[in-house]
Amino acid sequence: MEDTLASTEPSRKDLIHALHDAQERHGHVPAEAIAAIARRLRITETDVYGVLTFYKAFSLEPKGRHVVTICSGTACHVRGAARIIEEFERALDVPAGRTTPDREFTLETVNCVGACALGPIVIIDGDYHGQAKAAEIPKLVEDCRCRSRGQAPCGGGKPEDAPVDAGPGPSPRRQPGGG
Ligand code: FES
Repeated sequence: MEDTLASTEPSRKDLIHALHDAQERHGHVPAEAIAAIARRLRITETDVYGVLTFYKAFSLEPKGRHVVTICSGTACHVRGAARIIEEFERALDVPAGRTTPDREFTLETVNCVGACALGPIVIIDGDYHGQAKAAEIPKLVEDCRCRSRGQAPCGGGKPEDAPVDAGPGPSPRRQPGGG
């Protein structure tokens, strides 16, 4: 674990860099990494947790094979994002912010991804789905399960359900240092 921080100067300003390093290396930031970072940077583990939990780029638990991100920003909210979140929670049997016990899905929300006119927006494994509808959620979930089995999408999708190109908007996750 210490080698994760080998290039990190023992300074608080390098905390985000160290967290990125751990996240990339492990797919999340495990407790041992938090302790190692705190030791190395000579700050408390509470300080590390504070930054870690502020940014959605970092996770305390391993992410699922499929990451479903639903925009809950204002424009998407008024277009029904809450219903979309509820339907995904029902379909995956896991609350937003958590990963399914089989580690197949992580369900998360985010505030505005810069494609407001296409809301509500659902992002699945990096693919944007605009004007998402509750009725299509079982198909989207099934498509993911099929991909996990090495099959083509099998949820009965129609061409108009294909992911939209929402353009070069900002990352669906808050980026450290990006506000
Ligand atoms: S509020 Fe959802 S993309 Fe802007």
